[in-house]
Amino acid sequence: MKGESVLLIGATSSISRALAHQMAQEGTALHLVARDRTEVERIAQDIAIRYQSPVSWDTMDAFDYEAHQELVPKAIANLGHLDGVVVSLGELGDQEQAQTDFNLAQRIIHSNYTGVASMLTHVANYLEEQKQGFIVGISSVASDRGRPSNYVYGSAKGALTLFLQGMRSRLAKSNVHVMTVKPGFVDTKMTFGKSGMFLVASPQQIAQAISQALSKKKNVIYAPWFWLGIMFIIRSIPESIFKKLKL
Ligand SMILES: NC(=O)c1ccc[n+]([C@@H]2O[C@H](COP(=O)([O-])OP(=O)(O)OC[C@H]3O[C@@H](n4cnc5c(N)ncnc54)[C@H](OP(=O)(O)O)[C@@H]3O)[C@@H](O)[C@H]2O)c1
Repeated sequence: MKGESVLLIGATSSISRALAHQMAQEGTALHLVARDRTEVERIAQDIAIRYQSPVSWDTMDAFDYEAHQELVPKAIANLGHLDGVVVSLGELGDQEQAQTDFNLAQRIIHSNYTGVASMLTHVANYLEEQKQGFIVGISSVASDRGRPSNYVYGSAKGALTLFLQGMRSRLAKSNVHVMTVKPGFVDTKMTFGKSGMFLVASPQQIAQAISQALSKKKNVIYAPWFWLGIMFIIRSIPESIFKKLKL
């Protein structure tokens, strides 16, 4: 990562923050973008002081589609060039509420999928032309199977997983690597106060797994790794049994 220039989209997310610290420590120049102006500026200043590394920041909103075309030019204006992009954002939302309030369901779908797909469209076209670079998209284990407790969020992540998969094949021809990350439960703002969580990882563990997998050019990772086995079992349960389970 030393000497590389990376755009982190959704920089106020707990996972992104951990990644930013890790990358800056390794000597990566960063351009951080998030919707919370005060917080993203605070994170950037903290990183600049702590690691004496180049870091700039800007704002973005997943729903402001027009503005997404400015993401890459603004990152390049600050970084000089662009080696890679990490997108880590979305809203878990309240599944029960989303079942009766489609405005909420739509927000969950747009923040996790449509907004991210819009941003990645611009990023992909730039990197394809450049014929070099990487994209990391944070999906979720929730994308592996629809469950009553979170299928609105899970379906948006499922769409994102397919979008990234298709982009991976397209961009491989242009020397651009696309990695999909599927975290299990992580102790972040998103899951604060949620019940029923187990094998909870820290954002730092996820950031470490992302860095290691990226250096090995992995295509898809489960983070931590043991979710690969858990999700294999979950996906293997026949639908006739699965629909009777309380998941
Ligand atoms: N935590 C988990 O257990 C878990 C598990 C699997 C996957 N993930 C995924 O990991 C990624 C990072 O999440 P996290 O766990 O680190 O949670 P987090 O701290 O709550 O981060 C979510 C991020 O999404 C941003 N966001 C939400 N809606 C947005 C919008 N409309 N426009 C712009 N930004 C928006 C939030 O901005 P604000 O700071 O302004 O709110 C925040 O930066 C997400 O894609 C999440 O789905 C998390």
